[in-house]
Amino acid sequence: MKILVTEKIAKCGIELLRKDFEVDERTDLTPEALLECIGEYDALIVRSATKVTAEVIEKGVNLKVIGRAGTGVDNIDVETATRKGIIVVNTPESNNISTAEHTIALMLALARNIPQAYTALKSGKWIRSKFKGVELYNKTVVILGLGRIGSNVATRLKALGMNVMGYDPYITDERFEKLGVKRLNSIEEVMRVADFITIHLPKTDETVGMIGEKELAMAKPNLRIINCARGGLVDEEVLYNALKSGRIAGAAIDVFEKEPKEVPGGADFSHKLLELENVIFTPHLGASTEEAQENVGLEIAKQVSEALKGNIVNAV
Ligand code: NAD
Ligand code: MLT
Repeated sequence: MKILVTEKIAKCGIELLRKDFEVDERTDLTPEALLECIGEYDALIVRSATKVTAEVIEKGVNLKVIGRAGTGVDNIDVETATRKGIIVVNTPESNNISTAEHTIALMLALARNIPQAYTALKSGKWIRSKFKGVELYNKTVVILGLGRIGSNVATRLKALGMNVMGYDPYITDERFEKLGVKRLNSIEEVMRVADFITIHLPKTDETVGMIGEKELAMAKPNLRIINCARGGLVDEEVLYNALKSGRIAGAAIDVFEKEPKEVPGGADFSHKLLELENVIFTPHLGASTEEAQENVGLEIAKQVSEALKGNIVNAV
């Protein structure tokens, strides 16, 4: 059986798959080229940049399994795949620590203007006054989504002495109590109390645009937002306007609504938010650590391999 891998995954995963299957690593495929070749393959493995649309699935006449090397499956049309009897598997346990740590890194960098100060110093300018920051200690942080990553963020932020609250209607009071996180019951409540909001929601019809114009209008002016989940959970246009006008204080963004696929030398990328001085960014690096990528690569290889052999897997 043949497996197509369209984005870079760890070597150990590829080696494991090659013990039993033919594997083609084709990280340079355009969406059109993917449509042309997908019919040859029994399995497809992607990260977040490959869009596995209904059209790709329809053309994948031999597909039995789609593997997502990572957590979010919002780039895969899971409904169409399931209707066609194609199993979708992912690796939600493998990169949550790395993403939680990246969230903390961004929150501290945002609070202390580290990227801006670094850029000024790198260009030969010793500036201290402009880069006065704020402490995290004693500030109220609200975690949207207390799942795998949100919970790991909670324990780390408590260690920094923050007043940690959460909004997640789908988890129990016992879970909130166990994490030592105060439960909030509405987005209105979140917006009124938060000094920091960190987002750890899946991208679904319900969560897209969850923070929009109405919500930002209620925010405290010192609000700083960290998004290491998915682009579009905060409306990007509304966020831009709120940051530009000083309605809120800052944002740290790891994920964008439209992200390019990396190419050798770096893909071209431009975005309105990049113009602003009170926003810091990384190019979807939440899960980009040696440890997470080893875990993810190996885990997705195991899942896809078991699915192709007809064994039981944890399908999405
Ligand atoms: P998870 O499924 O474990 O947790 C998500 C939580 O959100 C759940 O507890 C769920 O109850 C809650 N939730 C769902 N809908 C909600 C709603 N409408 N309101 C409030 N809460 C709601 O997911 P996770 O593994 O923690 O991943 C969180 C996000 O991080 C996902 O979007 C994932 O794709 C993304 N992610 C990003 C990176 C990165 O590189 N930046 C890496 C890994 C995961
Ligand atoms: C994920 O959902 O796991 C993230 O988007 C990280 C990634 O794909 O690298």
